[in-house]
Amino acid sequence: MAGSPPPPHRRNRSSLLLPVLLVLSCSALLGQGAEARPAFACGKEFAHLPFCRRTMPVHNRVKDLIGRLTLQEKIRLLVNNAAGVPRLGISGYEWWSEALHGVSNVGPGTRFGGHFPGATIFPQVILTAASFNASLWEDIGKVVSDEGRAMYNGGQAGLTFWSPNVNIFRDPRWGRGQETPGEDPLVAGRYAASYVRGLQQPYGYEANRLKVAACCKHYTAYDLDNWKGADRFHFNARVTKQDLEDTFNVPFKRCVMEGKVASVMCSYNQVDGVPTCWELNGYIVSDCDSVGVFYNSQHYASTPEDAAADAIKAGLDLDCGPFLAQHTEGAVRKGKVQELQVNYALANTLTVQMRLGMFDGEPSEQPFGKLGPSDVCSPAHQSLALEAALQGIVLLKNDRLALPLSASRFRTVAVVGPNSVATATMIGNYGIGRYARTIHQPGCNNVPCAGNQPIDAAVTAARESDATILVMGLDQSQEAEMKDRENLLLPGRQQELVSKVASASRGPTVLVLMSGGPLDVTFANNNPKVAAILWVGYPGQAGGAAIADVIFGAHNPGGKLPTTWYPEEFAAKVPMTDMAMRADPANGYPGRSYRFYRGPVVYPFGHGLSYTSFSHSIAHAPTAISVNLAGRRGPAQANSTTGRLLSAAAVRVTHARCDELAMDVLVDVENTGDRDGAHAVLLFASPPGGHRAPFRQLVAFEKLHVQAQSRARVRLGIDVCKDLSFADANGIRRIPIGEHTLHIGDQKHTFSIHAAAPGL
Ligand SMILES: *[C@@H]1O[C@H](CO)[C@@H](O)[C@H](O)[C@H]1NC(C)=O
Ligand SMILES: *[C@@H]1O[C@H](CO)[C@@H](O)[C@H](O)[C@H]1NC(C)=O
Repeated sequence: MAGSPPPPHRRNRSSLLLPVLLVLSCSALLGQGAEARPAFACGKEFAHLPFCRRTMPVHNRVKDLIGRLTLQEKIRLLVNNAAGVPRLGISGYEWWSEALHGVSNVGPGTRFGGHFPGATIFPQVILTAASFNASLWEDIGKVVSDEGRAMYNGGQAGLTFWSPNVNIFRDPRWGRGQETPGEDPLVAGRYAASYVRGLQQPYGYEANRLKVAACCKHYTAYDLDNWKGADRFHFNARVTKQDLEDTFNVPFKRCVMEGKVASVMCSYNQVDGVPTCWELNGYIVSDCDSVGVFYNSQHYASTPEDAAADAIKAGLDLDCGPFLAQHTEGAVRKGKVQELQVNYALANTLTVQMRLGMFDGEPSEQPFGKLGPSDVCSPAHQSLALEAALQGIVLLKNDRLALPLSASRFRTVAVVGPNSVATATMIGNYGIGRYARTIHQPGCNNVPCAGNQPIDAAVTAARESDATILVMGLDQSQEAEMKDRENLLLPGRQQELVSKVASASRGPTVLVLMSGGPLDVTFANNNPKVAAILWVGYPGQAGGAAIADVIFGAHNPGGKLPTTWYPEEFAAKVPMTDMAMRADPANGYPGRSYRFYRGPVVYPFGHGLSYTSFSHSIAHAPTAISVNLAGRRGPAQANSTTGRLLSAAAVRVTHARCDELAMDVLVDVENTGDRDGAHAVLLFASPPGGHRAPFRQLVAFEKLHVQAQSRARVRLGIDVCKDLSFADANGIRRIPIGEHTLHIGDQKHTFSIHAAAPGL
């Protein structure tokens, strides 16, 4: 396996299966019992060994165990498929399990079948992010870890889940953008911390014990799979220190520091040990086969032993792939790496296993030991999957309030489009069929929609129905791991189908877009015959029901786009391989994301309508913030009379007294319409000019319910050092001095930041 890139299909099956298969498996298994699995380690016979003593501090147990292992035994523990040590009563362990949006069988550590035929499938992450509801993210993590732990107890999953994927969705064409929480560092960072907290649910002394162990991946600036001949195994991303610090690394830092994640996965060419400087309490795993790729494709090291030694010395603790098991012994024998370094790696992995209770004997006697088959796909879990889809769905267009449709007026509905096939089961049984009689015509037989297609039959169905719902967009044939898109348009003849059906439709036409990445649907946005447009991501097992509930008004949509929807010209002009976030006026490079790109958009980041309307007012916000500098800093930039820093200056975050620098903004939200609704308040800040800082940055967000014709107040906290700083060209975070502006909807508020150097 080393030498050839890993099979690309292994890790994205979860999203492929998303709409249909697992819905069925989820309903079939309630109320069964499973046999408990035997102890992973420290069963009765071995319980006297010191490393098995639950009451002893974990680091002492780890030290004891490492002291008992031979070099060969140690080396076989450095890989995902770790060998057992039978003489010490330790079983083999497969580290690779995944749970991006539900426990999945993408990694070899998890398999379905028997008492566990399936798991609850939540929407793909990009849609869940669109809810802008951090408590939902944490709740999903808790449910997923209930199911993961239940499957572990039944012997069908590991406890180490290599999720979430929190890379910044930098380019709209990225095939794996769907797995991420979008383009904004704050959203991605809060998603990472919330989902990880939900998954790990730390407990016990110093909250050191873990329900399951999560993993934030792929560190860092990994967001290209295969685009016009550039693939991730050979692509050498050139990223500035500035973009790393204030864009790409932000979610990882928050994942480690706020989420306290137990692991970070490094992408193909970056095993640098960097996360350790944020005090990662856990292990670093390589992306699968990356150590082999690092040697074979990138020719970085001259012998396999050098590659193994370099990886371990750089801080890698676990190799997803066989390479370290094959070459580390040789590397130690040739003196390229010391056994002590191997011990450091093992200490990190064994510590996590001990924190998971794997060395505590019988699983059934441990906290979470009673979770079993009835805790997988329980009614509560399934309703959370529906809730997540409902909260994420984004209403992009709603001309003359065409939506919601009233079930009493629209009795017959044509359901058209290639993605209506993928969701046929749900639409028939739980979806639109609950509200209206449906006439189903695919129009395009598949998502690529090339060549001869049954468009005419769909046109006829639309002509004969009271309303038409087109379920269009992408699937895994267009965007996936190892598959980036080349343009942002609907594939093949989909656009033609939409236009023809819309113009023939007797009643309103509703366009439902399934996709992870953005689509240029300007044609539909401008077409008055397309009354409404919804974006539904890949909505998971309850997607059909959620779409119907939104269309027929049982749920008022409140999702907002977590990415910028660029026009096709963006893709035509900007190479995917250009990693720069910041615009470069000198060569016409437009920059990326709402933070740096100011060109035309199809829909902006944060766009999302509701069936009601909301207005904001700022009830309280500071007008001036004083940054006190720690020690005698900054006099070079200060006004010698006043001691204040000059306005063009920007203070280093490490020089500021950050603990004093929290600010609160109170916002009143009024629901001025006649329906209750949920609303995400997005608070942006713009710094003073002249710094190559983002011209706008999300600094806080909060989702709240507001009843019709009433008002609610929300408090948004801003951490000045984290949220109002940006990186300079050297990657050093600074707080710009001068006038900053807050934006909430159409409301603005300005405040100034000044700095005082002590002793002047
Ligand atoms: C956020 O999600 C939780 C579920 O975790 C839900 O109970 C709550 O109502 C949601 N908040 C809003 C404003 O939608
Ligand atoms: C320093 O502050 C004083 C008082 O506000 C002002 O008059 C002076 O112009 C400032 N000097 C500089 C160099 O900005």
